[in-house]
Amino acid sequence: MKSLGLGILGSGRGSNCRAILEAIRAGTLPARACVVISDVIDAPILDIAREFSVPNAYLPPGQFRTRLEPNVESELVRMLRDAGVDLVVLAGFMRVLKAPMLEAFPRRIINIHPSLLPKFQGLQAWKQALAAGETVTGCTVHYVDDKIDHGDIIAQRQVPILPNDSAETLHARVQIAEHELYPAVIAQLCAKTS
Ligand code: GAR
Repeated sequence: MKSLGLGILGSGRGSNCRAILEAIRAGTLPARACVVISDVIDAPILDIAREFSVPNAYLPPGQFRTRLEPNVESELVRMLRDAGVDLVVLAGFMRVLKAPMLEAFPRRIINIHPSLLPKFQGLQAWKQALAAGETVTGCTVHYVDDKIDHGDIIAQRQVPILPNDSAETLHARVQIAEHELYPAVIAQLCAKTS
């Protein structure tokens, strides 16, 4: 099985990044973590990369709130290529990607989102599901395009919404599902490219 080189991008806590790095360490995910990059200088995801001795970098995002400045996005492409990345893994990366990244890594950028897409795109999707009175939600891994939380779906995992759930209890249950699903999907992609 070929070992895919992963470039993990995230803006926050990094629990999905940790799940991926743990799966690599455990030998259940035949991939290499080439680099972890964040648009937030003090994001815990960068500490997790350091804990696992994975090269890591802060990428100053520029003046926009929801995307990268085009020259910054081109710099991101260069960093990922220099690191030997085959597959770009968004793990809580809160910016939409545009042409420089999408053209450099066609169908080689994936994202995880905490809902059963196409339902509940955007921020805090588990809260949206709770507010809508759903009884089931979940998480989705999908290929990335230039729209928010949009693109061909690769896999989904359902999670029940219990009658006395708070946003916090539901989010915790969805994240447990994410931490199982994301490494498993990446392992499937590794198997396909072997
Ligand atoms: C995850 O729940 C992920 O699904 C979500 O951000 C969280 C990051 O958590 N992503 C999105 O909402 C993308 N629209 P983590 O930093 O602990 O992995």
